[in-house]
Amino acid sequence: MSASITTKSTSTQDASSLSLIAAHSHISGLGLDDNLQPKESYQGMVGQLQARKAMGVILKMIQAGKIAGRAVLLAGPPSTGKTALAMGLSQNLGAEVPFTAITGSEIFSLELSKTESLTQAFRKSIGVRIKEETEMIEGEVVEIQIDRSITGGHKQGKLTIKTTDMETIYELGNKMIEGLTKEKVLAGDVISIDKASGKITKLGKSFTRARDYDAMGPETKFVQCPEGELQKRKEVVHTVSLHEIDVINSRQQGFLALFSGDTGEIRQEVRDQINTKVAEWKEEGKAEIVPGVLFIDEVHMLDIECFSFINRALEDEFSPIVIMATNRGITRTRGANYKSPHGLPMDLLDRSIIVHTTSYSGDEIRTILSIRANEEEVDLTGDALALLTKIGQETSLRYASNLIAVSQQIAAKKRNTSVELQDIKRAYMLFLDSDRSVQYLEENSSQYIDDSGNVTFGQQVADSEPKLEDKPVEDDKMETD
Ligand SMILES: Nc1ncnc2c1ncn2[C@@H]1O[C@H](COP(=O)(O)OP(=O)(O)O)[C@@H](O)[C@H]1O
Ligand SMILES: [Mg+2]
Repeated sequence: MSASITTKSTSTQDASSLSLIAAHSHISGLGLDDNLQPKESYQGMVGQLQARKAMGVILKMIQAGKIAGRAVLLAGPPSTGKTALAMGLSQNLGAEVPFTAITGSEIFSLELSKTESLTQAFRKSIGVRIKEETEMIEGEVVEIQIDRSITGGHKQGKLTIKTTDMETIYELGNKMIEGLTKEKVLAGDVISIDKASGKITKLGKSFTRARDYDAMGPETKFVQCPEGELQKRKEVVHTVSLHEIDVINSRQQGFLALFSGDTGEIRQEVRDQINTKVAEWKEEGKAEIVPGVLFIDEVHMLDIECFSFINRALEDEFSPIVIMATNRGITRTRGANYKSPHGLPMDLLDRSIIVHTTSYSGDEIRTILSIRANEEEVDLTGDALALLTKIGQETSLRYASNLIAVSQQIAAKKRNTSVELQDIKRAYMLFLDSDRSVQYLEENSSQYIDDSGNVTFGQQVADSEPKLEDKPVEDDKMETD
């Protein structure tokens, strides 16, 4: 199989990463100037200057290819922009550099083992830029002639195609006829055909035929009829991730598996073969490795086995840069019985660059909330924004941010176009923030199921308490013994 490793695919975006992004749609970069200094408010980023400056240095190092195999830890209280910083960095890196975002708890899925999930996440974050020479036929279609047999079975045909210098007739098989029909290719179109894959691309309509069409939409693109030879060699570059190469080569339905995300476990032999092949391509100058970014949010959800896996993976020949985020202080690492800073084992902490995020000032919160309102196309009155800012200061930025959409619904019900003070108040009363929720739970604890499965209905006395058979799932269920 190693001789025929395929790398052709279209890039896909995981649905699971979308929800991570929605709350950060206002962010288009780290908001740095040309000297990598953070501007107060730029590219959707506000304040948090120290951390942004630090991320700017990391950006520079990634671009210079100097940081692969290392880790960055973003540490700070909830809602201080840790995820936002990672998103900003990814935007600055551009689409060419692979960026994968996962949440610590995602690793513990039912279908894949922890190490398989992590391996896939690592390999999604390593790009392979492949240079290939392909033969193309490029020209203006003179005539397409298709003979349909009466039985409807085999189709045959001829394609006459020309450049300004030559004209050739090609015999058409079934597959090409289908391709031409699907692309709705007509005489007068300028097309290119990839000889290896048979892929047909319509480049536009030929200028020479412009006067033949008088009822043309404005979207019609006119191009010159190509010059010179019909067949040309072209260098094409495409970037795929190691994971995509794994998937395509591990199953017959590889392409489909990529789209459905149903990839299952990938055998180690497949990965070994691919690694060898990619290393060969690299030697021969056919491919370049593009180390990307793997972002692991809520990294304290991982256990000791995952951490040692990450440690090892960082030393691998192909390794992305790993950015982790946590809001934990000194705490116990899952699966271990010692405490450590941020719940990370010391050896991993040792190779990490730590970036701290700090709480926002009132002004910064107001600016961020008004950017969010703008992004969600919600019009807030001055009073409403002031109250929302106060809520943001007293609860959290994320909670205040969530109230924007809710209060807009409340305003819309009254057919108001802008959100007023009253609407924010209503939204605040309707939806509890975590502090008030805790308070509520404490006041009404008797109505909930407790740790040992006990539940009280109404004012019943302890004796007649019904017991639930099943113990509720414990918080630590993901731990390994
Ligand atoms: N400095 C910032 N500039 C702009 N928006 C921010 C900033 N910090 C946080 N946000 C926004 O506030 C919300 C909460 O921040 P988030 O990055 O999720 O916090 P954390 O990951 O630290 O818990 C998100 O919608 C985020 O985009
Ligand atoms: Mg976060």
